[in-house]
This record gives sequence, structure tokens and C-alpha cells, in this order.
Amino acid sequence: MLSPLLILPLLLGTTALSPASRAASRDVTTFFQLAQEDTWENVNLTSMSCEDQRNRTWITLQLTNSSLTAFPICLPEALQSLDLSNNLLQEVNGTEIANLPQLRVLSLRHNHLWAVRWGSETLSSLLKLDLSFNKLSSVPSCLGSALPNLRWLSLAGNPLIEIQPLAFSCYPQLQVLNLSVTLLGQDASRGIRDSAFAISTDPHEAMDRPGNSIEVLDLSRTFLETIRPEWARGLASLRSLYLTNMPRLRSLDSNFLRSLPGLRELHCQDSHSLGFVQTEVFDSAPHLSHLSFEK
Ligand SMILES: *[C@@H]1O[C@H](CO)[C@@H](O)[C@H](O)[C@H]1NC(C)=O
Ligand SMILES: *[C@@H]1O[C@H](CO)[C@@H](O)[C@H](O)[C@H]1NC(C)=O
Ligand SMILES: *[C@@H]1O[C@H](CO)[C@@H](O)[C@H](O)[C@H]1NC(C)=O
Ligand SMILES: *[C@@H]1O[C@H](CO)[C@@H](O)[C@H](O)[C@H]1NC(C)=O
Ligand SMILES: *[C@@H]1O[C@H](CO)[C@@H](O)[C@H](O)[C@H]1NC(C)=O
Repeated sequence: MLSPLLILPLLLGTTALSPASRAASRDVTTFFQLAQEDTWENVNLTSMSCEDQRNRTWITLQLTNSSLTAFPICLPEALQSLDLSNNLLQEVNGTEIANLPQLRVLSLRHNHLWAVRWGSETLSSLLKLDLSFNKLSSVPSCLGSALPNLRWLSLAGNPLIEIQPLAFSCYPQLQVLNLSVTLLGQDASRGIRDSAFAISTDPHEAMDRPGNSIEVLDLSRTFLETIRPEWARGLASLRSLYLTNMPRLRSLDSNFLRSLPGLRELHCQDSHSLGFVQTEVFDSAPHLSHLSFEK
């Protein structure tokens, strides 16, 4: 099937653009006009009725740098990829996203989000969600399996202080989790709780099912002092661990690495305080093939 792949830049007539963002939007327009012969197209959304917008067959839409303060309500139902980065959104909820039943990729990077609320909807098509560089102080919580197929989640650059036990239990298929550039460890009494990455309180369930499938975890540029063995529950599939630029990281526990039989890459460069690495660490991670302790 030949699906048209269209991008709609910055032509929301209702938003007041600063001179700087006008300049940016001109550049984008030029780019998409160049690409237009293939698949891109510029469209003025304000000249279209809501109904008209909803029944378009566009599958990709870019509404970046548009000073949006609310999740747009009139979007094509066929959308698979939506980029709302660099706007002014403060809150988003599952009901708004559920209006886009085919949506696979959603970027809300660089907004002002302090609340993301998952309700009773199941967003089963969503695979990739970028919430980086917002104002979230906790992992968006939910009951059950609200995002049963989410594979990729970034919460990087949010003021997260604490990760609660089972915080990711409604993302049972998560493979890549980015928690870098957060405030984890800044308050030593909080940080990452035991079982934060587990998806069930039942230890047997957590052991037996390959379900909890986080393969890549990024904790770089956080304030954590140690990596605790208690976090390994739920990380049985971990292959790559990023611990770079962690100013307070002092030690790596061999019990932690022993619980990660599949670990292949460990990145520790620029974590200057890391002075204590038990040598058994390396015996306990038999598949480790990339190891970086530079600086
Ligand atoms: C978009 O359409 C609206 C309504 O037709 C018009 O007022 C506005 O000037 C148009 N914006 C651009 C950027 O063409
Ligand atoms: C979208 O809706 C308009 C107005 O109801 C209709 O004329 C048009 O055929 C519809 N297009 C599609 C692709 O369904
Ligand atoms: C949006 O604005 C950001 C920050 O000013 C800039 O880095 C980015 O290139 C812009 N993106 C587009 C598509 O104009
Ligand atoms: C979700 O957001 C919409 C639009 O802001 C609002 O009307 C609705 O009440 C919200 N729903 C829930 C369950 O919070
Ligand atoms: C995590 O997010 C940061 C900020 O966007 C990025 O620089 C880094 O490469 C990401 N980590 C991984 C493993 O993708």
C-alpha cells in the first residue's frame, strides 16, 4: 500500500510566532517544499474544518515550534507519527491520545508538561513515546496495562527525584528506558526504589516471564551514588547500561552485575568518583563485550 507521508509544518494561523520562530518556520517550509515532489506537503490547517482534518489520510504530522498550549483535537485519525516537540503543552491525558487509534510514535519533547495522566483507555498502538525535557516530577502512573506495546520511553531531562516500586508496570514491553539528566540521587533518601523496574510484586512471576524486557537503560548525568542490587529485579533482559557523567557515582556492586546475565555493554566514562569496582564484577558478567571506564 502506498501511504502518503505528509508533514504539516507551522501553518497554524492562530499562533503568534516570535520573529525567531518565524525565521525557523521559514526554513522548515523551504525544506518541505523541496521535498514536496516526493511525499511532503504544506497545509494550512486553519483553513480546514475539523471534520476535514480528521478524515485526511496523512500518517505523519509535525507541529513543532508552534506555541501550542493544548493537545490538538482535530487531527487525522490515520496518523501514525505525531511530533509536537518544542511547544507549550502543560498537561496531556490518555483520552486525547486515544483519539488517534493508529498512533505509533509520539514526541512531546521540550514542552512544559508537569502532568501526563493515563486513564482507562488502552493505547495499544503506541510504540515510542518521547517525554524528554519537560517538568515531570514522577513517572506517569497507571493501572494495569495502559500502554501494552510501548517499546521506547524517554523521561530524560525531567526533574524526577524518585522512581516508585513497579513504576513501569503498565509498560510491560518496554525495551529502551531513558532516565538520564534527571534529579535521581539528588535526595539520597529517595532516588530509585527497590523493585522500581519490576512489573509484578510476585517474585515468581517476575522471574519466570521474559515479559519485563528492558534491554537498554540510561541513568547518565544523574546524582546516584551507587547502583543497588535491588534494582536488578525486572532488568533480567538488560543488554546495555549507561552510567556516564555521574558526578557522585562511587561504586558498582558485583551482586548487581551478577543479576544481569545478558549485559553486553557497560558505559561508565566521565563518572569521576567511580573508584571502587570489585574485580568479581567482571566474572559475574560473562557476556560483557563493551566496557568503557574512560576518565
Ligand atoms: C491560513 O488560513 C487562514 C484562514 O483561511 C488565513 O487567515 C491565514 O492567513 C492562513 N495562514 C497562512 C500562513 O497562510
Ligand atoms: C472527508 O470528508 C469530506 C466532507 O465530509 C468528504 O467530502 C470527503 O470525501 C472525505 N474524505 C475522505 C478521504 O473520507
Ligand atoms: C524548533 O525550535 C528549536 C529550539 O529553538 C530548534 O532547535 C529546532 O530546530 C526548531 N525545529 C523546527 C522544526 O523548526
Ligand atoms: C483530558 O483532557 C481533555 C482536554 O484537556 C479534558 O477535556 C478531559 O476532561 C481530560 N480527561 C481526563 C480523564 O482527565
Ligand atoms: C537519552 O537521552 C539523552 C537526552 O535526549 C540522549 O542524549 C541520550 O543519547 C539518550 N540515551 C540513549 C541510550 O539513547
